[in-house]
Amino acid sequence: MMNDKDLRQQAYQAVEKSLETAQEDTYRQGFHMTPPVGLLNDPNGWIQWRGKYHMYFQWMPFHTGHGAKLWGHYSSDNLVEWKLEPIALTPSDWFDKNGCYSGSAIDHNEKLKVFYTGNVRNGKGDRETYQCLAESDNGIDFVKKGVRVELPEGYTAHFRDPKVWNYDDKWYMVVGAQTLDKEGTVAFFESEDLQEWTHKGNLAGPVNGLGYMWECPDTFQLDQQDVLIFSPQGVKAQGIDFNNQYQTGYVIGKIDYENGKMEHGSFTELDRGFEFYAPQSMVDEKGRRLLVGWMGVPDQGEEHHPTIKHHWIHNLTLPRELRLEQGKLYQLPVEEMKQLRLKQLFEHEVEAEFSQSIARTSELVIETGDSLDHLELKLFDFLTLSYSKADGYVTLERPNLASGEPESRSCRLIEGIKYVQVFIDRSSVEIFINKGKEVFTTRMFADPEERLLKVKQKGNEQLKLTAWELKDNCIKQDISNWYNK
Ligand code: FRU
Repeated sequence: MMNDKDLRQQAYQAVEKSLETAQEDTYRQGFHMTPPVGLLNDPNGWIQWRGKYHMYFQWMPFHTGHGAKLWGHYSSDNLVEWKLEPIALTPSDWFDKNGCYSGSAIDHNEKLKVFYTGNVRNGKGDRETYQCLAESDNGIDFVKKGVRVELPEGYTAHFRDPKVWNYDDKWYMVVGAQTLDKEGTVAFFESEDLQEWTHKGNLAGPVNGLGYMWECPDTFQLDQQDVLIFSPQGVKAQGIDFNNQYQTGYVIGKIDYENGKMEHGSFTELDRGFEFYAPQSMVDEKGRRLLVGWMGVPDQGEEHHPTIKHHWIHNLTLPRELRLEQGKLYQLPVEEMKQLRLKQLFEHEVEAEFSQSIARTSELVIETGDSLDHLELKLFDFLTLSYSKADGYVTLERPNLASGEPESRSCRLIEGIKYVQVFIDRSSVEIFINKGKEVFTTRMFADPEERLLKVKQKGNEQLKLTAWELKDNCIKQDISNWYNK
């Protein structure tokens, strides 16, 4: 096990060594949080604290694979420009020596407190897992307080990703878990003081057919309803649903806090694209429920990402505001995204077909008065989004990252397609359909020289297409402040 100081030093050196190579990559993102170098996965400790937004993240600085993760850190005043901060947590203690895994943040007694999973491989190579606490006075430097929750009976050591919240003056925690019968579930805990935690059973799960492990649970109230988001592993594809390696989705219902049970409806996928996993949400000072996900999926083609050559892999999604409408979670890009608009590239009424060059960091909006019969949007000769009223399917197609063969993801829209908003960064696309009713989140490794956008439509007299060039270079990765304290 390495101590905290050495781990920080080595991470610093790893960043110093490869940051330039990573930043020179033509696929380097302009306004999405990336790891400076190495691998990023889950968003962690997502909070607005003393006015500032803090996004911690799972980080492997030493290579582009997984392993004993650290917590990296970005901060922002406006949700669009992000500043890399010094490392928040390193796996330097007996209870987290094989990874400071995912967790969440709360504001308590003038401190920013984080609960995270200490991942340990013991002498026999078996997994051990501890839910740990760390505290900070400034959101940057953390003091670890050690283990708060040990593995209760009835679960395997796949027990991680604590999310903590306050309700009716008590503290609650959910932890992603696996029963001894190897089924996914969510363990539920209660505490008066954040020190002693009582295990109250399973808040939800297992559910037949919903996998062998549920990662990254997130529980919250929206519009007087209780929502549980989680990322189950081992769900089989069913038609157009559950086509990624692992899923992320939600259930809606009512939590009985007394008995520690949630009555809920069926599981719905949150995002329809190729890359979306392990999201986390929080309420900001404006009262909005904001969600950020990892734009990646574990064990899904990571070795084929071309960015690996430049010593980095993955990024987070844009922050999205969650709304609940008619029993469905909607995700909308936060209004702050408008600040990214540099200039309008064009506004065009498309009668049948239209093609035009756009910037590699752009936003598009397609508006139609009514639903149309057919829509096709082709980006940089790489991604195609199509919609057909005949069957109601919306389909996103791209070449498979390994084979180059076409692969697709779809959803169904009964009410037709009326409004499409697309955020294009150098190697990703987020497509918000009908004001966030459905979202496709996807990496896009198109030829960096390609600029062409093509739109085809049938069946609507008024299709307005507007494009803006977006601000670039929003992610500041200066590490010179890491050691001058
Ligand atoms: C989800 C996950 C979490 C775990 C973390 C480790 O992507 O597997 O369950 O805490 O990643 O990096």
